[in-house]
Amino acid sequence: MTAEGFVGSLFDVAGRHVLITGAASGMGRAMAIAFARAGSSLVLADIDEEGLASTLAMLPPDIPVLLHRTDIAVEDEVETLFAAAKAIAPVDVVINNAGVLSEYSFFEITAAQWDRVIAVNLRGQMLCIRAAMAAMGTHGGSIVNIGSGPGSRGAAMNVAFTAPDYVASKAGVQAMTRFAAQDGARHGIRVNAIAPGAAATPMHAHHLEEFEAAVVGTVPLGRLQRADDIVGMAIYLASSASSYVTGQTFHVNGGVLMDPGA
Ligand SMILES: NC(=O)c1ccc[n+]([C@@H]2O[C@H](COP(=O)([O-])OP(=O)(O)OC[C@H]3O[C@@H](n4cnc5c(N)ncnc54)[C@H](O)[C@@H]3O)[C@@H](O)[C@H]2O)c1
Repeated sequence: MTAEGFVGSLFDVAGRHVLITGAASGMGRAMAIAFARAGSSLVLADIDEEGLASTLAMLPPDIPVLLHRTDIAVEDEVETLFAAAKAIAPVDVVINNAGVLSEYSFFEITAAQWDRVIAVNLRGQMLCIRAAMAAMGTHGGSIVNIGSGPGSRGAAMNVAFTAPDYVASKAGVQAMTRFAAQDGARHGIRVNAIAPGAAATPMHAHHLEEFEAAVVGTVPLGRLQRADDIVGMAIYLASSASSYVTGQTFHVNGGVLMDPGA
């Protein structure tokens, strides 16, 4: 086998059936394009149907793709999504990426705002992890949950650009990842998290210049994250290259340090 062939087979995700939530925008779209280029079949879910159609238009032709309008905060919609995915083929990889940002301090937060963010970022990811584990129960697979730097640090890079509910939801995602990894291990299901850093995606479009000015100086690699900076880690975690890796959170953040043990 050539060196290229060896590396290619280690990271091979061709033919894997991959479900990605939040695929209408930003990092979800970047991962959809990457897995499609790598030959995976896709189920792409989001509440934004127009955005899903735009993602589809960016994919290489001849890749099997199902677009599914799903609100991950709604239990029945998540169950319907996974039933549709399973009806096509056994689900090998699930990337729980959909999420919402919030920006207010403890002096402003209301209980209703807290409930909305927790419903999507934490309860929504729980519903998707549960459905993914049920779907993979008989053959194993890889689940990748998208957390965030504050989920490990317990604090924002800059409090002006996030909120207590967002930080708590992402810490919860990373804790659930470890629990699900222990639960899933005996069924051959690996569960890991990726914690992006400060990314120039549509999530921050409304204040991009201000955001960049405030945080870029704290990033050792000296720039904001691009949406596609995440795809190498996502493919690694989906492939057999990571077959002995579970329960971990990987920071893709340009070198911003986390607390020891995070
Ligand atoms: N942008 C950053 O700086 C940053 C940093 C760390 C972590 N993250 C996380 O990365 C993930 C992707 O974020 P992004 O920056 O690409 O943002 P984005 O806003 O570009 O994409 C998020 C997608 O999630 C979808 N979505 C929102 N609520 C949903 C729901 N209830 N059901 C289904 N889909 C829903 C949106 O429609 C959108 O398409 C999120 O979980 C986010 O919290 C982002």
